[in-house]
Amino acid sequence: MDELGRRTILTAGLVTGLVACTTTDPAPPAPARFDPADWDDVRALFPLDPDLVHTAAFVLAAHPKPVADAIERHRAGLDADTEAYLHSHGTAEAELRKTAAVYLGGTPDQVAFTDSTTMGLGVLYSGMRLRAGQDVVTSTHDFVAHHAALDLMARRTGATVREVALYDDPRAADADEVVSRLRSAITANTRVVAITWVHSSTGVRLPVPAIAAMLADVNTGRAPEDRALLCVDGVHGFGAVDIAVADLGCDFLSSGTHKWLFGPRGTGVLWGRAWDALDPVIPTFSEGSSPGARFTPGGYHSFEHRWALREAFELHERIGRGRIAERITVQATRLKEGLAKIPSITLITPDDPDMSAGIVCCEVDGMDAFTAVVALREAGVVASVTPYAQQYLRFGPSIVTTPDQVDKVVTAARALRP
Ligand SMILES: Cc1ncc(COP(=O)(O)O)c(C=O)c1O
Repeated sequence: MDELGRRTILTAGLVTGLVACTTTDPAPPAPARFDPADWDDVRALFPLDPDLVHTAAFVLAAHPKPVADAIERHRAGLDADTEAYLHSHGTAEAELRKTAAVYLGGTPDQVAFTDSTTMGLGVLYSGMRLRAGQDVVTSTHDFVAHHAALDLMARRTGATVREVALYDDPRAADADEVVSRLRSAITANTRVVAITWVHSSTGVRLPVPAIAAMLADVNTGRAPEDRALLCVDGVHGFGAVDIAVADLGCDFLSSGTHKWLFGPRGTGVLWGRAWDALDPVIPTFSEGSSPGARFTPGGYHSFEHRWALREAFELHERIGRGRIAERITVQATRLKEGLAKIPSITLITPDDPDMSAGIVCCEVDGMDAFTAVVALREAGVVASVTPYAQQYLRFGPSIVTTPDQVDKVVTAARALRP
């Protein structure tokens, strides 16, 4: 065992207690009348202002009742007797890893915990070993934090980062073309292929399994240290699309769990199946030698939030990943159909549910996106603006909105006047 490993185990004892303690927190009973099949019951779990239509709730989660209750329970325990509470929760993270793996697919040891998508990307690219001459292919469509993390990796390793546009017109984005444009950019030296599952800039969803299949072909015959690794910012697919992360075919996926999953704010996961390609950059406090533990950044955390992630996964599973994805698709489709009938609005996101998820972007003739957001709020609709150089008006119907509310959004959008 190396020095870092020895120290890690010593430090782990600080947090989790030197004696093996088990976490026996019972899942708090859901309200007696809660029916996970009833969307009104699901909506009632959220404290979101009922007078507003929350189509920007995916930007940062409000806490549904089971998550808020779990946070309060852990907070009270930590506040009353921090030392004892930490000791009695020595296995909380390992248990959480198992719960996460039920949702993510794969095995618990593939799951590292982070505070956000951004932290996960930082852990991934700061730890990635690149040999001289190896390069990185990414796209022009990713979030600024993703490109910043790649730039830091390039500065550290000297690698070149090449950006490729995967489509010209987002509305007409085509799965085969996306795969073929990416394929053309990959060379024998490409070590990292860095993409985003669902673009928050346009709402386009990439065909990640098809990209993974193309890369499997590219990697045939390559030595493990030469394989092109598929690294995904998954945050706007995670909790919104009905596919387990382990089935996407990627090598790494970073996602905040505080957006579409409606987990505690300041929580996230980094899932991986090629951990040998990395070194940890932040010493862990987690117990065990699994990759998930070794790549979970250490230090004491806001444990009341991290441990309450269990309730977010459990609630999501209870409602059903497939039902949630369908609910999102039904509303996003209805929204696109409604917006398409408004002459002053130009849709940006594809109609095809396979090429999109919950994000719906559009432009309003003669009105910038910020002005539109202000006007919509006056009409009771909370929308957002894409945080990119090209700014679109953006909606994200989810489990906190209803099809009727989607119709209200369309009515409010029709009334927008420059
Ligand atoms: C595609 C994408 N990745 C990452 C982020 C940042 O997520 P987090 O707050 O989990 O770091 C955002 C926006 O918040 C985003 O749109």
